[in-house]
Amino acid sequence: MAKLQFGGVAEDVVTREEYPLDKSREYLKNDTIAVIGYGVQGPGQALNLKDNGFKVIVGQRRPSKTWDKAVADGWVPGETLFDIEEALQQGTIICYLLSDAAQIDLWPTVKKHLTAGKTLYFSHGFGVTYKEQTGIIPPTDVDVILVAPKGSGTSLRRMFLDGKGLNSSFAIFQNATGNAREKAIALGIGVGSGYLFETDFYREVTSDLTGERGTLMGAIQGIFAAQYEILRKNGHSPSEAFNETVEELTQSLMPLVAENGMDWMYANCSTTAQRGALDWWKKFRDATLPVFDELYNSVKAGEEAARSISSNSQTDYREKLEVELKELRESEMWQAGATVRKLRPENN
Ligand SMILES: NC(=O)c1ccc[n+]([C@@H]2O[C@H](COP(=O)([O-])OP(=O)(O)OC[C@H]3O[C@@H](n4cnc5c(N)ncnc54)[C@H](OP(=O)(O)O)[C@@H]3O)[C@@H](O)[C@H]2O)c1
Repeated sequence: MAKLQFGGVAEDVVTREEYPLDKSREYLKNDTIAVIGYGVQGPGQALNLKDNGFKVIVGQRRPSKTWDKAVADGWVPGETLFDIEEALQQGTIICYLLSDAAQIDLWPTVKKHLTAGKTLYFSHGFGVTYKEQTGIIPPTDVDVILVAPKGSGTSLRRMFLDGKGLNSSFAIFQNATGNAREKAIALGIGVGSGYLFETDFYREVTSDLTGERGTLMGAIQGIFAAQYEILRKNGHSPSEAFNETVEELTQSLMPLVAENGMDWMYANCSTTAQRGALDWWKKFRDATLPVFDELYNSVKAGEEAARSISSNSQTDYREKLEVELKELRESEMWQAGATVRKLRPENN
């Protein structure tokens, strides 16, 4: 562990310097890592682990397009790709990477194969934290750990291939063997994380549910939609409204924020833009603070989890989701976006 200052607060983190990949491979050399589910996180983690030299198998139901995708990605049926039960039986470390709703359905099967000394690995604290609603209560003689990459499985894989790493949190829920902590760190390094920071299952799930409903996904779409609407109402063209709301942010400004922080992005904008941004950001903070408060309280009360479980466990969940995504896709703002993207020189 390295103690580093994060804005004046000291935190212990793990980087590849403290825990190199070689050490991780050596530590897990006798383990078979069974990645159960090949949706979004599954491929990212399984392929990174395989390319990093770990013994990995994939468990996926069939027939399914997802099974075909696993085959297309190079997993070999009967050798490295199995039905879920077979993979559960062979694995010593079970990476439970089905969707959170599907984890509830399959839990009785998984539990059956969690014999003493095995490790149950999650990438979200959801199932265990909301156990009254999910029924996911692991047997007491297995290690229960978490490594949660802070981003899409698609990014985890892309960044790995680019020689970069997505940061992940890690946590221990149950340390039956006394080795749970080192296992979590070794796996976190193995899946291609940037640096690892420690949390617990409850904090992981509450911060994650808040972040995705907030600035990462929900709030950002809300702010985009509000600004776009005001610009359109005042006679600006879709092209002008979309460029001033989204395109400039994603193409020009966010890469600068990612590179060196908000003040660096501001410093690279005009003095007129700087003055305006510095005058207005606190107003936006104050206006949204009560909404974030409401959001965090809803997460804390378990309301967000309950809603997620009830809607995602419906049999027509995918069809309903598609209707809602279609509404976004077909809104004027995102239709304008599609045309703007087509006009990017690199797409011509
Ligand atoms: N999405 C992310 O990038 C991300 C980021 C950080 C953490 N996480 C966490 O990682 C875990 C996996 O999330 P994910 O987004 O990768 O999940 P996902 O893509 O929704 O998972 C889909 C997988 O679950 C299988 N599945 C769905 N319903 C099933 C059922 N009833 N029985 C058996 N298999 C079923 C799917 O098979 P079929 O295709 O055959 O249905 C597919 O293999 C979750 O705990 C999530 O919170 C995800």
